[in-house]
Amino acid sequence: MIEADIRVKSFGGAPVLRDIRFRVATGEVLAILGPSGIGKSTLLRIVAGIDSAFEGTVARPERLSMAFQEPTLLPWRTVAENLTLVHPSLGREGAVAALARVGIEDRADLFPRQLSLGQQRRVALARAFAGDPEALILDEPFASLDPATADEMLALTEGLIAGSRPATIFVTHSEPEAARLATRILRLGGRPATIRPDKEAG
Ligand SMILES: Nc1ncnc2c1ncn2[C@@H]1O[C@H](COP(=O)(O)OP(=O)(O)OP(=O)(O)O)[C@@H](O)[C@H]1O
Ligand SMILES: [Mg+2]
Repeated sequence: MIEADIRVKSFGGAPVLRDIRFRVATGEVLAILGPSGIGKSTLLRIVAGIDSAFEGTVARPERLSMAFQEPTLLPWRTVAENLTLVHPSLGREGAVAALARVGIEDRADLFPRQLSLGQQRRVALARAFAGDPEALILDEPFASLDPATADEMLALTEGLIAGSRPATIFVTHSEPEAARLATRILRLGGRPATIRPDKEAG
């Protein structure tokens, strides 16, 4: 279970987020929608515990994984090593098994630059799921992929979430993506950004 109560988040004295409260239970998937620059990644970093410079509280489980907006793989490590570095107990075999879950076990010994962006995103997803997370945070995991690849990644993620049922939060710019994967949608708007009601009058 993730429980967030963010009263204010500011950068250089300027408030970016205000009064954002939500809970995500085990097995729930919360989609966060909102225009570019509104503060979605900032919100995810706060929830993940990477950014603690805000007013408010966040309760999160111990086993939490985050996949960032960029795949953030270490360029001088192979794909398998990128997994074992974060999850040493996997060993090479476990890393290859984790890669098999996203269909790229044949890339285990290549370096990230030898992979397409879609393949790098799969590695990031495999790395996030390899920790058997109780909370999963995904920042635009299907962005800048062609529609077919994005769709395939979405189906993969759907399957992984259904299998291990973490409390999941993901950011997207796509309504259909949100509608398909999420059990709930949270819309951000305004400046500073806050939660928009689902249906606005008028
Ligand atoms: N470390 C920082 N220092 C100062 N300002 C920042 C910092 N990080 C983010 N911001 C500002 O906070 C605002 C929200 O940024 P954020 O990356 O959270 O947006 P976003 O909703 O994720 O956008 P996108 O959809 O383009 O990824 C932006 O105006 C950005 O410039
Ligand atoms: Mg962002």
